[in-house]
Amino acid sequence: MNKKRMLSGIQPTGAPHIGNYFGMIKQLVDSQESYEIFAMVVNYHALTTVVNGKQLQDNTKNVVLDFLGAGLDPEKVILFKQSDVLEHTELTWIFNCLVTMPWLSRAHAFKDKTEKGIEASVGLFDYPILMSADILLYDVPVVPVGEDQRQHVEMAREIARKFNGLYGETFIEPEEKIVKDVAIVPGTDGQKMSKSYGNIIPLFGTDAEIKKAVMSIVTDSKNPEDPKNPDDVIVYQLYKLVAPEKSDKMKTQLETGGLGYGDAKKMLLEAILEMVAPMRERRAYYENNPDLVEKILKQGGEKARYVAQEKMSRVRKLVGLE
Ligand code: ADP
Ligand code: TRP
Repeated sequence: MNKKRMLSGIQPTGAPHIGNYFGMIKQLVDSQESYEIFAMVVNYHALTTVVNGKQLQDNTKNVVLDFLGAGLDPEKVILFKQSDVLEHTELTWIFNCLVTMPWLSRAHAFKDKTEKGIEASVGLFDYPILMSADILLYDVPVVPVGEDQRQHVEMAREIARKFNGLYGETFIEPEEKIVKDVAIVPGTDGQKMSKSYGNIIPLFGTDAEIKKAVMSIVTDSKNPEDPKNPDDVIVYQLYKLVAPEKSDKMKTQLETGGLGYGDAKKMLLEAILEMVAPMRERRAYYENNPDLVEKILKQGGEKARYVAQEKMSRVRKLVGLE
């Protein structure tokens, strides 16, 4: 039986953090037995922020290693670079001609920038359309993302509906898959963990970097013996994700009093280091075998292109380009 497809993408804009891991990467890793997975490094998207060629190349290489280190099995998933499939940009143009500027102005990435008085590039404005093309090219019903990407997947759905209405059933309307407990992983300051907020715990940081981040997690001024509400304790919110099997114990200790924030942080640090140990080992293996990584990307690109080209050849006919 054919497996259901799943696709997601990550921008090569910097080192991934544990928010990216729980919000997106882990969902792909956990689904690789039961789904046919397209895991994409969206380097065209990254051009909206990274304007240094060498840096983009390095970031891309690193994100591929991070994906592999985190446990994506290249035998099972189609791991590829967006720019290896030119059809993404071609379909973007076709969609550009279908949507209106007011409709696209609702997109939050663009709105956030303009509200801050920053002039957005046309690329940033068009970002959700490129993402819609990413998704719709592959007929994927399920897109695992964090809460912040919900609107983008909704937009992809609306574009699919519009295209289908005009030209006949062509695209599947995708659904976002947002796992409730990890929809928004908090950062060290309690806001959403994000590369842009300087509040991350890096997934592949050194012991010292991870320790520094964990120790900087914001807490209130309660004493160790005071009872605490676990819902208010960021350290616990993260511990629940990293060590779910042990988190009930921490919850009780917080509620009844007796566990100080310093000790809770030590428990979290230990759990993170335990979680990342096998990932680091895998990442190092791929890092030491660049030819193998090259081959994985080449094969992934070929497989993705095959699917995308078939779709585009149909789209070109439908819209009248061929
Ligand atoms: P960032 O906000 O750090 O730049 P990206 O925009 O590159 O992260 O996000 C990559 C993926 O990780 C997306 O699917 C996004 O929804 C998910 N993600 C990012 N931050 C978090 C978070 N704090 N909690 C849950 N998921 C997240
Ligand atoms: N916009 C997503 C982000 O910033 C990345 C992305 C691009 C994506 N294309 C995608 C995610 C397609 C899922 C599916 O995180």
